[in-house]
Amino acid sequence: MANGVDPKTEERAEFLRRELHRHNYRYFVLDDPEISDTEYDRMMQELIGLEQSHPELARPDSPSSRVGSEPLEKFDSAAHSIPMLSLDKGFSDSEILEFDKRVKRSLDTAEDIRYTAEPKLDGVAVELVYENGRLSMASTRGDGEVGEVITPNIKTISSVPLVIDSSGETPPPALLEVRGEVIISKANFEALNRRRLSENQPLFANPRNAAAGSLRQLDSRITARRPLEIFVYGVGTAPALTAADSHAEVLRGLEGFGFRINPLIRYQIGLPEILEYYEYLNAKRLSLSYEIDGMVVKVDRLSYQQRLGTTSKRPRWAIAIKFEALQERTRVLDIRVQVGRTGALTPVAHLEPVNVGGVTVSRASLHNEDEVKKKDVRIGDQVFVQRAGDVIPEVVKVIKSVRDGSERPFEMPGACPVCGARAVRDEEAITRCINVACPAQLKANIKHLASKAAFDIDGLGDKLIDQLVEKNYVRSYADIFGLSWGGLRQLERMGDKSAENLVNAIAASKDVPFSRFLYAIGIRHVGQHTAAILAANYRSLDQLAEASREELEAIDGIGPVVAASIAEFFSRRENLATVQAMFENGVVIRTSASELLQDGELTGRTFVLTGKLETMTREDARKRIEAAGGKVTGSVSRKTDYVVAGESPGSKTDKARELGVTILDESEFKTLISGAVV
Ligand code: IVH
Repeated sequence: MANGVDPKTEERAEFLRRELHRHNYRYFVLDDPEISDTEYDRMMQELIGLEQSHPELARPDSPSSRVGSEPLEKFDSAAHSIPMLSLDKGFSDSEILEFDKRVKRSLDTAEDIRYTAEPKLDGVAVELVYENGRLSMASTRGDGEVGEVITPNIKTISSVPLVIDSSGETPPPALLEVRGEVIISKANFEALNRRRLSENQPLFANPRNAAAGSLRQLDSRITARRPLEIFVYGVGTAPALTAADSHAEVLRGLEGFGFRINPLIRYQIGLPEILEYYEYLNAKRLSLSYEIDGMVVKVDRLSYQQRLGTTSKRPRWAIAIKFEALQERTRVLDIRVQVGRTGALTPVAHLEPVNVGGVTVSRASLHNEDEVKKKDVRIGDQVFVQRAGDVIPEVVKVIKSVRDGSERPFEMPGACPVCGARAVRDEEAITRCINVACPAQLKANIKHLASKAAFDIDGLGDKLIDQLVEKNYVRSYADIFGLSWGGLRQLERMGDKSAENLVNAIAASKDVPFSRFLYAIGIRHVGQHTAAILAANYRSLDQLAEASREELEAIDGIGPVVAASIAEFFSRRENLATVQAMFENGVVIRTSASELLQDGELTGRTFVLTGKLETMTREDARKRIEAAGGKVTGSVSRKTDYVVAGESPGSKTDKARELGVTILDESEFKTLISGAVV
């Protein structure tokens, strides 16, 4: 008897848990329920009641834990025992043939190879770790080596078993790591977006983003309300399945353990069937209830997989053959001009809404005036629009044969549609509003400044930015940091609490890493990557502001256009004034290393460099470490403080992991070192 709970109650709870697991499996994995929803709910309510009145009965793997639990502070990270690799990609039959040839050549055989072919599910890759038959941990793929621990979120997915069914005969395996894809169906994605629209929340761009966003919730009770599903397609460490000699057997083994395997998978087929299957999936994809973006072909025999091995990032025994981008036909209702951050006037086609592969498309970028002319897109035209991955949908082609003469050509306005200032066309065929104080530019700049990768100001949404600019509360993006509670309270739909939250969010954002700061201030051509390079190469903003074009161009990764743009930015008095105003309003540039250094911690630290660095040579890295008072050695020991791991790092990172030495990737290293040179 557990701590005084009477044995009958305990037995009943155990019975309910077992039955609920079983019915859950029948419903969500087999799609073959035995009982009605009402009966299921009644049992669940009974179990929840028992667990609440006898907290000692609560179990982490109880079916009741699927409703989510208390929010986490942050996600922990966890290393995958075997890296989660990505796949080589091809786009056509010929690439399938080449892959098959490569496989035969590497295996040095003329025999026909058997493959298992699967739909490439367009979702989020996860790893589920089961210890003694119970789900003990679940994580995202992350960078392939280390992912984020999202166990409570994964538990909310009904098709994920919380306990492994070993039919009572054999004991469950001591360890089983299962890998698969978390997805959200097209219909559920649409419904979710409809709800978000009615609640004034930003929409998800596609089902994959919706799945990723749902898994990234710190509050698993939110995840529990998102209808996520899983299909599993492989294993990590899985001693229980070592008897298997084919991928097909591994999948069947997983199926036997209660996991959901995609029903469209074709087991152990030859090359001709692979080609057929590709056509079959391609034709079927639009009618499937979830998104797939290609086919994955895997060499079936595990001993062959072993012999073929992997490169640093991809297995040589598998390939993803992607489908062509999706196209649909619709009508151009209007062509309107949008003003961007740099004042560029972009023609945007407003379309009759159309569903392209599960996503409603109602706008498409037409890039610039020349593009509109070249494609001869007119208002009223029937067009094909295309959506490819994450990129903004575009008009691919006009169906000119169905024109009836009522179509109107587009003309680029000579003035900015927002502020009325003159709009001038530059050498790159881009027409720009010449007014640097144009409210549209300012709004776009503030949106950029507040975005996640920049100052990440929570609660500073589009509508609010519109009001702030239109009511002249802010005249430059630096003014954002001077906003007060009293001022914000004057705005429409702004309560005491929201104003307070926003003031706090702004205050919290003011302490910002150098690279984010550089990205945030909106220098043309300076994206996140370039900002990181600059932050790694300059000790301070002053130093960067004084750099000449030539000096900038000499930096690895900075080309002439970018260098010119940076030099131009800092040559303008109004930009320097805006940046100065940011500092006056309390913005502080931070590097993690400068904090370390203030404590005198970096001096005397030992580094080991391994793998190829992308933006600097190892020699440069060594010089920088030494300039900062650190030292570089050749091998990893307990005395090593940091291992800097570039591309294909090799055994030194393994050693570091073993000894618990901190491993930095290149960007972390650069953040460290950029502030370290004092
Ligand atoms: S196998 C080493 N099978 O594709 C094998 N992956 O580009 C790696 N994916 O991160 C994975 N469907 O998210 C595999 N049937 C499938 C898949 C699949 C989708 C995703 C997965 C992975 C990415 C690799």
